[in-house]
Amino acid sequence: MKKRYLAPFVMSALFFAACGGGDKKAETTDKTTHENSAVDNSMVSPGADKPASKGEQLMAQSDCKTCHKEEIKVIGPALKDIAGKYPNTPENVDKLSDKIIKGGSGNWGEVAMLPHPNISKDDAKEMVQYILSIGK
Ligand code: HEC
Repeated sequence: MKKRYLAPFVMSALFFAACGGGDKKAETTDKTTHENSAVDNSMVSPGADKPASKGEQLMAQSDCKTCHKEEIKVIGPALKDIAGKYPNTPENVDKLSDKIIKGGSGNWGEVAMLPHPNISKDDAKEMVQYILSIGK
């Protein structure tokens, strides 16, 4: 009987383990599904036929989409709202890529973004470039 209650716990433990250290594994799986599934792609960005930029691909391979969608606020702000708030300047790209790596709250509300210590500064900048290009 006890096992029934153990399963969700084990699964969430795995989830957090994947977030902390094993991002790379999740990336490979994600990428495969992404490339093979037109349906998945059209759900993320309706009607977008253009090839995904590097930043968009990096975001698809990470956990960003759990909390951010392009058009609507989920747990984090909508990507197009972030694009609307920050002009694409080197200072903003630098500040926002640090925020992705370190996490934190305060600019949009009380809810904090998880830190992403495994993401390199360069990759974080690619993601910010993609986010800030949305709707422009
Ligand atoms: C656990 C949910 C969660 C995940 C996962 C997440 N975010 Fe966020 N993100 C948030 C929240 C909440 C905020 C608002 C933080 C604030 O109020 O300052 C935010 C804010 C941001 C901002 C704006 C920061 C600011 O200071 O205005 C950027 C850019 C961003 N996220 C990018 C990303 C990227 C890229 C990823 C994937 C690597 C990601 N987020 C993953 C929840 C998340």
